[in-house]
Amino acid sequence: MERWNAARLRRRAGELAELLTDTVAGGASVGFLAPLGHEEAAAWWRERAEATAAGRLAVWAAVDDTGRPAGTVSLAHPDKPNSRHRAEVVKLMVHRSARGQGLGRRLLATAEGAAAAAGVTLLHLDTETGSPAEHLYRSAGWTEAGTIPDYAASPAGELRPTTLYFKRLAG
Ligand SMILES: CC(C)(COP(=O)(O)OP(=O)(O)OC[C@H]1O[C@@H](n2cnc3c(N)ncnc32)[C@H](O)[C@@H]1OP(=O)(O)O)[C@@H](O)C(=O)NCCC(=O)NCCS
Repeated sequence: MERWNAARLRRRAGELAELLTDTVAGGASVGFLAPLGHEEAAAWWRERAEATAAGRLAVWAAVDDTGRPAGTVSLAHPDKPNSRHRAEVVKLMVHRSARGQGLGRRLLATAEGAAAAAGVTLLHLDTETGSPAEHLYRSAGWTEAGTIPDYAASPAGELRPTTLYFKRLAG
């Protein structure tokens, strides 16, 4: 598991773009509508570099034998003074060709471990209700906090509910 700093994120945004376009093409709700083009996806990753340099975002990539990222996860730290104890797990995704081999679970554990090491005591995330990711979060000790209807559009443009999860980390 590699943590990518701002420079690496800018340099290798195209590789993460491949992962993102594959995830959206597979129908997962990760903030984009289909079809997501490679350039749009790469620009989106490059734009994350600023927050990464400022310490508001941490990005990890799980690289395969060829050195290419097969999965990624990020941790977003809020900059509000009253929220420094918490962080949000975002953009957990594994390439369709690498799923079902424990990578998603390892990525989530990496983000959780880094959050705990940074003094974060509360994690939260949201995910499309009924998505495969829900099984992963529940079995990793996350607690369901509730469901919001019509929260976000699927890649195909249909409004779908989202379920919020949280997890307390040892202080
Ligand atoms: C969710 C995701 C990251 C899981 O990645 P993965 O590498 O396949 O996950 P793992 O192999 O570590 O599996 C983790 C658990 O989820 C289960 N799981 C994985 N895919 C599943 C599926 N399609 N249906 C049901 N359970 C599934 C696994 O069985 C495993 O549970 P187990 O250990 O009890 O057997 C991946 O499916 C993905 O990228 N989905 C699209 C993006 C997405 O939805 N991200 C979450 C946004 S919040």
